[in-house]
Amino acid sequence: MDIENVRSRFIKHFDGKTGSIYTSPGRINLIGEHTDYNGGFVFPGAIDKGITCEIRPNGTDTVMAYAIDLKDRVEFKVDDPKGPKSSWARYIYGIVQEMRKRGVDVKGFNTAFSGDVPLGAGLSSSAALESCFAFALNDLFGNNKVSKWDLVLAGQATEHNYCGVNCGIMDQFASVMGQEGKLMRLDCRSREFEYFPFNPKGYKLVLVDSVVKHELAGSPYNDRRKSCENVVKHIAAKHPESKFETLRDCTWEQLDEVKNEVGQEDYNRAKYVLGEKDRVLAVCDALNAGDYETVGKKMYETHEGLSKDYEVSCEEIDFLASVAKEDGVTGCRIMGGGFGGCTINLVKDELYDKFVNDVKAKYQKKYGKEPKIYNVVISEGSHKVC
Ligand code: GLA
Repeated sequence: MDIENVRSRFIKHFDGKTGSIYTSPGRINLIGEHTDYNGGFVFPGAIDKGITCEIRPNGTDTVMAYAIDLKDRVEFKVDDPKGPKSSWARYIYGIVQEMRKRGVDVKGFNTAFSGDVPLGAGLSSSAALESCFAFALNDLFGNNKVSKWDLVLAGQATEHNYCGVNCGIMDQFASVMGQEGKLMRLDCRSREFEYFPFNPKGYKLVLVDSVVKHELAGSPYNDRRKSCENVVKHIAAKHPESKFETLRDCTWEQLDEVKNEVGQEDYNRAKYVLGEKDRVLAVCDALNAGDYETVGKKMYETHEGLSKDYEVSCEEIDFLASVAKEDGVTGCRIMGGGFGGCTINLVKDELYDKFVNDVKAKYQKKYGKEPKIYNVVISEGSHKVC
């Protein structure tokens, strides 16, 4: 978080005055992928990379926003029915609208923001941006009357209503609710969650960024969700006596009953989701027992499912996972929405140097580019800096 940079740009690009500074992180997710919109469990944590903004009400009804890293400036009226076109500004515009819907009387403001969460790496840079502004507007214009959960939902609604991604709640949840040193197990159906201190002695959590940029807007992400909903619809039709909202409510037997109707592809998608629900629970037990070998084994199983059944991996990421396996890394899988981005790896301390060297060299040799390595520090969620 480069506060000095944000402050100096804010002063330079507006009227020389300072404002308030807020920050929100990106996230990792240990296990529980594509389960959030299926009512299942996720296991995310906030990271030490995120979006930081400086913001000051300007006494008008116009938002003037400057994206420091892109050197791009956009203006829009708070009640503009359409909003700006550029994708980064739509997140801010969407949050303004969603906070207004939640009773916050948002007026015009000046803002400059910058981020160190890599874009398109599956670390939720967009949720970090949404959460940062949701938190800031709630503080500046709403006297913090909107609850943290409603900030999470405002971020998710921004993706749905203004950015074309029918996402679940994991990313915004992690960004808003994160705590230092703790992962969170969230039940996305009941919204109950628990903090899990995460300090696996003798292991490191390492992200390997394939630098294949993923972009969920316009991607098959929304199609995956549709496949899951289609399976639920078929199961519900067979069992009018029960209520089925998401795949979380469905059993393996019920899934098998509709196998022929829904077709192989949708069946495979649902099969992955049901398996992932079981895996997250197994990982919770393993973490409680300090059994990281089982955690790692489940991560590999998740990767297999995401690659073969859910089909959200890509050749480069599968290669990164195969290098991890060859090197004896404890656990590895693609992380986040998919279609590029990072693998998350659970690596024994003594293997770390060898693995990092190997994965860089082998990837470089095969794809002509070096993957990026990020060591994960689990950090605090959205907050005011000053
Ligand atoms: C993206 C979405 C999340 C979640 C993950 C996959 O990050 O924004 O809601 O569905 O993909 O687990």
